[in-house]
This record gives sequence, C-alpha cells and structure tokens, in this order.
Amino acid sequence: MYPKLVVTRILPPDTQARLEELPFELVQWQQDSAMPRDELLRAVKGADALICLLTDKIDTELLDAAGPQLKVIASMAVGFDHIDVEAVKARNIHLGYTPDCLTDATADLTVLLTLAAARRMKEGMLAGANGEWGTWRPTWLCGSQFTRKTVGIIGMGRIGEAVARRLEPFGVKQTLYWGRQQKPDAEKRVVTATFEPDLDTLLSKSDYVIVCCALTPHTREMFTYDKFAKMKKSAIFVNTARGGIVKQDDLIRALQERQIKAAGLDVTTPEPLPTDSPLFHLPNCVVLPHIASATFETRERMASMCVDNVEAAMKNEPLPFKL
Ligand code: DGY
Repeated sequence: MYPKLVVTRILPPDTQARLEELPFELVQWQQDSAMPRDELLRAVKGADALICLLTDKIDTELLDAAGPQLKVIASMAVGFDHIDVEAVKARNIHLGYTPDCLTDATADLTVLLTLAAARRMKEGMLAGANGEWGTWRPTWLCGSQFTRKTVGIIGMGRIGEAVARRLEPFGVKQTLYWGRQQKPDAEKRVVTATFEPDLDTLLSKSDYVIVCCALTPHTREMFTYDKFAKMKKSAIFVNTARGGIVKQDDLIRALQERQIKAAGLDVTTPEPLPTDSPLFHLPNCVVLPHIASATFETRERMASMCVDNVEAAMKNEPLPFKL
C-alpha cells in the first residue's frame, strides 16, 4: 500500500507530471481555487504527507483531523503565517517551505509596484483610455523619481535586500532599513544601507517605504494611521509582504486625506480584495492580486521544492527546505 499524499491544488505542469509518477496514493484538489476547509479536513484523514498553499490554514484542528501518522507538511510559500508552526513541531511533523526561489520574482514586482505608484501609472493609463490625454503639459501626471532619494525597507531579509539592491542603480542616496537586528552582511552588498532601529525615524526620513517583512504577532497591523501620519506627504508606500501588516482602513484614510502620496499593494486584507474596496478606486493606489512570485519559473520551482521535501521525509532524510 502506498503512503497517502494530499495536495491541495493542481501544481505547475512539470511538477504535476513528476508528482503523478511518484509512488503515492495521491489525493488532489482538482480545481484552481482553494480547497474548501471541510473537504481538506476530510481528505487529510490518514494522510502521510501534505502539500499545501498559503491559502490553507494549518492548525491543531487540521493536525487532529489528519491523525498521528502525518509525517510531513510541505508548504508552497516562503511566508508561513498560515501555519501554527509550534503545533506542527510539537507533533514532530517535518515542515518544509520554499525560501530563496521566489526572491527575484518578488523583488522585481516590488520595484514595478514602487515605480507604478511613484509615476502614477494607474492615473496615466486611465487618462489615456478615458480620452483625457490632451496636449503635452509640463506638470500633468508628474510623479517622483529615485535619484538622490531615501528608500526605507521594512525587513532586510532576502527579499528586502533584493529590492534594495535593485533600487540602488536608480540613484538612491540612502537605504534605511528596519528590523529585529542590524544585518552587517547585507550592508556589504547594499552599499547605501544603514540600519535604523527607530521605525518612526525611518518613516519620517524615507521617500519610499517598502514592506518586505514577515507577518508575525510583532508586525501585525504595525502600519496604523499614526505611522502613515509620520511619513512625508510625498511618501510612496509599497507592500508586497502580507496585507495583515497594515491596518487597511487606516491606509485608505491616509491615501484619501493625502497624508501620503500613493501606495502600491500586492497584498491586502482580505484576499481576494472585494471589488468595492476603496483601494481599487483611489487614483493614488495600485493594487495587484498577490502575484509577486507569479512567474512560470518561480512557481514551478516552488512546487518542485515541495515535492523534494515530501520525498526526503518519506525516505527519512532531512528536508532540503526545512522551516
Ligand atoms: C509566499 O510564498 O509567501 C508568497 O506570498 C507567495 O507569493
């Protein structure tokens, strides 16, 4: 009898083909939508391995439903705020995730969103399509550029550093970063980088505030109205990490009141963001639907890392991408 592997979504094609060749009893959600919770709780019963996505909550209820034979959970994400890590580890279940492989794709899209918000891309595209494109005007749709500016990075992890490295060639003068600790190695690679342990100081000095940190109890809703009020009125705020880091109603208010200039968001609360959210309708807010890691290369790699993790655990080998 083969071990049972539950996979909560169809994977990208190469990895899906590989998955289907593996010696598992494969139970897989066949739709391109989140596996309903009750369906997942039923499917996971008796499973030896689980490949999940960031849309699947991994908590005590799920672990109980699975049963004590569950050996490995491989999550197809670098973020792990959907997982009760302590509960998983307390049961000696191997836990894998997908670090590194999505750094470049996510950093690329973060730069794209920063530029889009700073250069008023949404307003420009709408103006063109709506027939408001009159004669060339000296100040029409002017935005801001990076030259000699200060970038504030919230969380100088892999992605934060990759964003900072990408922005340096645009001519930024200074990169301030905030986080739990100074990162001397990152400072060697990002020559403009300086650790700023006081968040309010970073916010008041930065022309661009870019959120790249993990969602933890410490960072949850750290961006309140009060924080936006500390930023420059010309500041551009970008979040490609997790929507939960921002108190969203406060961001909406700050954008409406022009407390800050503009925002670029790849993550929101909830996801999907309802179409009547003011964020979609504000001219100074660009919203993308959580696609920072969405390149064919990266998604294929994320999925294959999950399969690598499952295969290793089933052979009683250490997980190659262990959380
Ligand atoms: C992750 O892996 O945590 C990302 O949010 C997916 O793009």
